[in-house]
Amino acid sequence: MSNKNKVAVITGASSGIGEAIARKLSSENYVVVLASRSLEKLKEIQKDLKGESMVVELDVTSTESVSKAFNEISEKYSSIDILINSAGIMPLTYLKNRHLDEWLNTIEVNVKGVLRCIYSALPHMEKQKGGHIVNIASVDGKEIFAGGAVYGASKAAVIELSKAMRMELSPEYNIRVTAIEPGTVETDLRNDITDKELLDDKDYGGDESKLKPENIADAVFYAISQPDSVNVNELLVKPTGKS
Ligand SMILES: NC(=O)c1ccc[n+]([C@@H]2O[C@H](COP(=O)([O-])OP(=O)(O)OC[C@H]3O[C@@H](n4cnc5c(N)ncnc54)[C@H](OP(=O)(O)O)[C@@H]3O)[C@@H](O)[C@H]2O)c1
Repeated sequence: MSNKNKVAVITGASSGIGEAIARKLSSENYVVVLASRSLEKLKEIQKDLKGESMVVELDVTSTESVSKAFNEISEKYSSIDILINSAGIMPLTYLKNRHLDEWLNTIEVNVKGVLRCIYSALPHMEKQKGGHIVNIASVDGKEIFAGGAVYGASKAAVIELSKAMRMELSPEYNIRVTAIEPGTVETDLRNDITDKELLDDKDYGGDESKLKPENIADAVFYAISQPDSVNVNELLVKPTGKS
């Protein structure tokens, strides 16, 4: 099947990496479903897209919201071919500063949010006997650092979950699963950080070399545009100069 008419649902499509993925896939003739909490932002992005697209309100922290969004999508389209889990937050904190609400919210969005979307997409992919789930994890799921404990743990969970999904879902249902592990990307993700001590220690705006969201969109496109017989398991993408 060519890209044309393949339906790709992208969570976190209102900004950063998710937005870049939506723009890239639309330019490559996928039918794009932009999903996040910010309906107005999604509609603004949708105005720029040339091909068929849909916007849907979705809060990954609510099972009801995710389920409602997937119902709306399946009322409009007969298949869900690709799910890209890009919604995520990164309120980095030092453990000693005890930002419990932020820790729990990180797991709620980055891990439980991914599970909710997989749960809702799976019946469609099982019925179709095919599909592709792309989880935007992070290099931080592999290389932990002080301040990144809970965020890193959330992304490590997503990387391990992706492995298990390949084991369980690929042989029986022909579902491909890819974990993308970006290094630092120039987006608003760091605005979530409130731990003052950590912010004083680390310079997030400074000279650190960063990827563009479009670089990650290209990696996603590479993974999903391979022949059906090829599963790109993982892609770890860093700015040049970062080992
Ligand atoms: N930027 C980096 O350096 C980097 C590196 C590695 C991995 N990543 C991962 O890349 C993904 C995208 O991040 P980004 O850098 O593009 O950051 P971003 O620009 O802040 O985008 C985050 C997206 O997540 C959505 N989101 C947050 N909470 C949500 C919720 N409860 N329900 C639905 N959507 C929600 C936001 O949409 P709404 O606010 O509209 O809901 C927004 O579209 C994340 O999973 C992040 O962990 C980023």
